[in-house]
Amino acid sequence: ENVLGIIGAMEEEVEILKEKMDIKETTTIAGIKFYKGTLHDKNIVLVRSGVGKVNMAMCTQVLVDKFNVSALVNSGVAGTMNEDLNQGDVVISTTTVQHDFDTTAFGDPLGEISRLNKRFFDADKNMINKAKEAAKNVKGVNIVDGMVATGDQFVAGGDIAKKIKDNFKDVEAVEMEGAAMAQVAYLNDIPFVILRSISDKANGEADLSYEEFLPIAAKNASSLLEEFIKIY
Ligand code: ADE
Repeated sequence: ENVLGIIGAMEEEVEILKEKMDIKETTTIAGIKFYKGTLHDKNIVLVRSGVGKVNMAMCTQVLVDKFNVSALVNSGVAGTMNEDLNQGDVVISTTTVQHDFDTTAFGDPLGEISRLNKRFFDADKNMINKAKEAAKNVKGVNIVDGMVATGDQFVAGGDIAKKIKDNFKDVEAVEMEGAAMAQVAYLNDIPFVILRSISDKANGEADLSYEEFLPIAAKNASSLLEEFIKIY
């Protein structure tokens, strides 16, 4: 049985699909509510993880252990570091990195996870292709693919933004959960993809832009996710 685990960090990032899905069972584990049911005849478990890597890691492992998910999608909003992207555009993850995992003092590259000796956790090719196919059914939204960088901070310019850009020049989206799901998915051998719509440019105006564009970005990410579920 195929069960798609769908994770959004915040209420705004899950509420659109929660309204549309047919909820059959609600379970609370570690204070997190898991909604099991169907959407467009597909079995899904939808959950709001909470913000940041720890919440996301917990939530993902629960989806694996208790709900037997066969694939994982994280959907939501992000800042961008690509000047060519704008608020409302959507990024489909090709790969992910934790920009705040830092053992560079030992000479390791930034983002390399100790013992796994791995910096980049790739999204599933098949799921990326399905997301690109689904993108054709989302009209009027610019949808690209690329790297997602994750860390436990809201990036609003300054040294952190520069550090991320210098270390990961191809980064398209910066957010606070995606790569945590990716690492847990990797360790459990479960395919994943991340869909993130741009709310801000991770610069000095990021806080104001985020507040203004959160609704439209959440909507665009949800639209792509819904089309993805239809054809998954
Ligand atoms: N989510 C949306 N915008 C973000 C930013 N600039 N940094 C981290 N997470 C974000």
